[in-house]
Amino acid sequence: MSFPNQNPVGIFDSGVGGLTVFAEVKKLLPDESVFYLGDTARVPYGSKSVDVIRRYSLANVNLLMTLGVKAVVVACNTASAAALSFVQSRFPNLEIIGVIEPVTEYLLTRPELKKIGIIGTNTTVASGAYQNALMKKRNDLTVSAKSCPLFVPLVEEGFFKGEIVEKVIDMYLGEMKRSSLDALVLGCTHYPMLRKAISDYFGGKIEILDTAFYTAKKLAEVLARNSAENRSSACSESDRFFVTDSPDSFRVTAELFLGHKIDNVFHV
Ligand code: DGL
Repeated sequence: MSFPNQNPVGIFDSGVGGLTVFAEVKKLLPDESVFYLGDTARVPYGSKSVDVIRRYSLANVNLLMTLGVKAVVVACNTASAAALSFVQSRFPNLEIIGVIEPVTEYLLTRPELKKIGIIGTNTTVASGAYQNALMKKRNDLTVSAKSCPLFVPLVEEGFFKGEIVEKVIDMYLGEMKRSSLDALVLGCTHYPMLRKAISDYFGGKIEILDTAFYTAKKLAEVLARNSAENRSSACSESDRFFVTDSPDSFRVTAELFLGHKIDNVFHV
């Protein structure tokens, strides 16, 4: 497969969550330009049915294709669980990667971690995608999973810490805290924005993993395998952000998370 190397990489999520993947991609692959799509008119995806998530995901990949991306990262666990193979089958000539496989592959290299907690949206947890990927290859694992649907609206509103966040964390994660896990996987790309609050809740005692870094590494491998890396930063376009609802609230939360101003947010 060959790609014009200077084309941007496309990343999509239901809202701001995929920015956790965007940030890791920019760290690891600073010469790549990224077109980020947040489907903010339809967030949250996590309580919607598989059919609906497939329809939205298809529309997102279509849109990114028309913007000329050379590869797509489905920076949403819910869409990765419900729609990844579906969109891959619809775009056989486009590299499309999800966020679940990279972190589960990494976990398989850590045999000392035996008691794993997975948290994600209703649809991700119900799909069993994490549980199956891990248990299929390691039968010595104990995997427990819990959906935490209120985390996404909190993050979308820029609530990353504070009393309300702590109460909601306690409501969802009390049982996992008592079960002395070795590691907790943040199986939703919004959740790393709550990482500090979650880690503090566990007293800093368990390993907290998220998908963003491993997904960025996987993207680097995929671009290298296709000889599609942008080798000349001077020619790369600047990053752009596209949202399906008003850019204003996206911009506010995005700037809070990224820690710098963004002015190129467009409504699509
Ligand atoms: N950030 C997404 C995920 O990783 C979607 C959350 C949602 O829209 O419910 O699952």
